Amino acid sequence: MTTVAADTSALSANAAETPSVGMIGWRGMVGSVLVDRMLAEGDFAHINPVFFSTSNAGGAAPTFDGVEAEETTLQDAYDVDTLAKLPIIVTTQGGDYTKEVYPKLRSTGWNGLWIDASSALRMEDSSIIVLDPINREVIDAGLDAGVKQFVGGNCTVSCMLMGMGGLFKQDLVEWGTAMTYQAASGGGAKHMRELLNQFGALHGGSAQELADPASAILEIDRNVLAAQRGDLDVSQFGVPLAGSLIPWIDDDLGNGMSKEEWKGGAETNKILGRGSSIAPGVTRRGDAIPFESLCVRVGALRSHSQALTLKLREDIPVDEIEQIIAEGTDWANVVPNEKSATMEQLTPVAATGELSIPVGRIRKLEMGPEYISAFTVGDQLLWGAAEPLRRMLAIAVGRL
Ligand code: HSE
Repeated sequence: MTTVAADTSALSANAAETPSVGMIGWRGMVGSVLVDRMLAEGDFAHINPVFFSTSNAGGAAPTFDGVEAEETTLQDAYDVDTLAKLPIIVTTQGGDYTKEVYPKLRSTGWNGLWIDASSALRMEDSSIIVLDPINREVIDAGLDAGVKQFVGGNCTVSCMLMGMGGLFKQDLVEWGTAMTYQAASGGGAKHMRELLNQFGALHGGSAQELADPASAILEIDRNVLAAQRGDLDVSQFGVPLAGSLIPWIDDDLGNGMSKEEWKGGAETNKILGRGSSIAPGVTRRGDAIPFESLCVRVGALRSHSQALTLKLREDIPVDEIEQIIAEGTDWANVVPNEKSATMEQLTPVAATGELSIPVGRIRKLEMGPEYISAFTVGDQLLWGAAEPLRRMLAIAVGRL
């Protein structure tokens, strides 16, 4: 397997053993989850982290427990000459940063690996979307062929594939649809705060009546609706989310489809190495699988859920389907399709903070023996964002 050539610059003095890795956006929400996971897995012992900042260059670099960075000051995340000294850069800073800095960095002749959480470069032919439990072969083929852009996938897509991957890996899916129930965290930290403030405001507006079991529920309902249609802060989501939902996520593509829905099909196929957007050196693994979505924002905090309808290529008994799903990745966890297990294990509350991806509600549908339903939930910040990047870094430094 290809590993990254060591750099011998000042910023990577001992790079022969321990490659220097630029860390950008480590303070943000996804970055913080990434750092926590790297600490939990002992990843920092195998790299020399160089911490960058977009706003506080020259300040003190963070001192995470047990992490000894050689460079103790924060580097300037807009200084491409400094960035260009590093063999690997991991960014969770966001798409605007990538769009501004990445082309300038490449124009210096920089030849390192760029590992990026944002969607800015994701669908470029020169990028591979990383989700190694599903597409390790694609990643390895790309590394061998000299691909340098490795990008985390859309959270909904990554979580879906981590749960349902077994069926896709065995090429058993003829087509699929995902009806999503996406958490506020997908919008960002401010969106999470807004949702909680909305819940608080709605409760506060009816707290007295709620404390009185004899009060009229329709009066409370009127109060809530008045607040939702009144002065509730909706500056992030644009409309109320608490006590409501928003059946549109990301841009309007103008063809009846949201960008989030387009990503569902496009990224699923790119991760699988199917369809037309295949990175250099990666063998195309077949035609694109039609995969449609209808994406909905709901008042969950940080785990995305989705109800799937799949048409399989053959009639497979449910117990075999469950086995294929359970063996598809080490993290897929089949939940029995009955009420108490579903209520206990197949919710955002159960999935949040967990790497395991529960998959339940698996049954055959009336439409025919090849049609199944399933429901899956995943932590939007773990497999949905940080974990694929963490693992890509481990692959790049030859540890996974
Ligand atoms: N676009 C996703 C969402 C998050 O809004 O939920 C990032 O993958």
